[in-house]
Amino acid sequence: MKNQIGLESGYANQMTEKLNKLLSNIQVFYMNTRGFHWNITGKHFFKLHEKFEELYDDLNEKADEVAERILMLEGKPVHAFSDYLKMADIQEKTNLSSDQATIKEVLDALLVLLKQEREIAVSAAENGDDGTVDLITGYISGQEKTIWMLNAFLK
Ligand SMILES: [Fe+2]
Repeated sequence: MKNQIGLESGYANQMTEKLNKLLSNIQVFYMNTRGFHWNITGKHFFKLHEKFEELYDDLNEKADEVAERILMLEGKPVHAFSDYLKMADIQEKTNLSSDQATIKEVLDALLVLLKQEREIAVSAAENGDDGTVDLITGYISGQEKTIWMLNAFLK
């Protein structure tokens, strides 16, 4: 059976689960990044305070895009934080304030997202789901660039 956008419903259900897990990771990472924005101290305060805001704004936008992709696939996006915490691989990080500690957490979280997004892109490509491929590959290249820049900052 095909869904509203002409994709197999069985595939769409599986992809919904994957995207809900990605959404959960994005939401926990979003809140962590807000905390880094608030709590950062030290000589790079102004740079990192601003950088973390840029990151959480971007994650906020991604959460909306992923949730709406789920709706296009006729799934239900998870929207309770209690569910996000159960489904996410990224853990809550509280009270970090040093540049090294906060950037390390951002790098680790980006790698979690990348691993999941690469799996999603492969599965979507195998099932002719170009819309999901298009959305997710943009995330991958953008996050790879962020990782390079944060690593350069740490050196
Ligand atoms: Fe702020």
